[in-house]
Amino acid sequence: MSSEGKVRVMTTHRLQEMKQNGEKIAMLTAYDYTFANIVNEAGIDIILVGDSAANVMAGHETTLPITIDQMIYHAQSVMRAVKNPLVVVDMPFGTYQGNSKAALNNAIRIMKESEADAVKLEGGIEIIESVEKILTCGIPVMGHLGLTPQSIHKFGTYAVRAKEEYEAEKLLNDAIALENAGCFAIVLEKIPAELGRKVAQTLHIPVIGIGAGKYVDGQVLVMHDMLGLTHQFSPKFLRRYANMYDTCLDAFRQYVTDVKQNDFPNDNEQY
Ligand code: KIV
Repeated sequence: MSSEGKVRVMTTHRLQEMKQNGEKIAMLTAYDYTFANIVNEAGIDIILVGDSAANVMAGHETTLPITIDQMIYHAQSVMRAVKNPLVVVDMPFGTYQGNSKAALNNAIRIMKESEADAVKLEGGIEIIESVEKILTCGIPVMGHLGLTPQSIHKFGTYAVRAKEEYEAEKLLNDAIALENAGCFAIVLEKIPAELGRKVAQTLHIPVIGIGAGKYVDGQVLVMHDMLGLTHQFSPKFLRRYANMYDTCLDAFRQYVTDVKQNDFPNDNEQY
């Protein structure tokens, strides 16, 4: 449902149809009301309230510190703006691994308190019990394979994943397991394009890529990266659609100058 109580246009069923019809799916992250409003207006299919909020909103080095309360706060803010897109919320680190009952309770909390449409979990076979448990109460689940930032301490780098044959095979098996468990879509992050193609061709559910090449069913980017608000992060897959860092910096500098020079406010800007 939208914030006005109307049923939203985008559903997991519609995403499935898009895959079948070869229509590409556009997904972006959002974390707050103002930007979610613009993203909604732009005609996006899926908004991800990503745990990348830990990085771009809170300045943490990894996504691990963000809490479920903080994710719910971001999701609530996004939900107040959204009318059409499907809204997926990342389950943060530590809220679903190793205990499927806790995973279910945490997913229920996210859905109840944010009124979002679905949750996303990172991992394959090792979290399948949690995925299945969450699905038992009708909460749609999106999977996430390849580079899984919540496991950064296990892998040690943000390098391209699944370049070796055995890793690619595991990733494909994980993707099949997630589909069989009942996930409505999966995200593939930073893997070779040919592997992205293979997974998208094998699965019946939509496969959304971030650095997974052009043969998958849709694309997702982190909003702050594609807007050029972040300027130190430049992976090969990232296309910047704006240079907002410089735009904002120029505006802030001009404001400081105007205030210091008593040029703001002028006669027309006061009562
Ligand atoms: O948290 C996030 O923004 C994500 C995307 C990178 C897919 O999971």
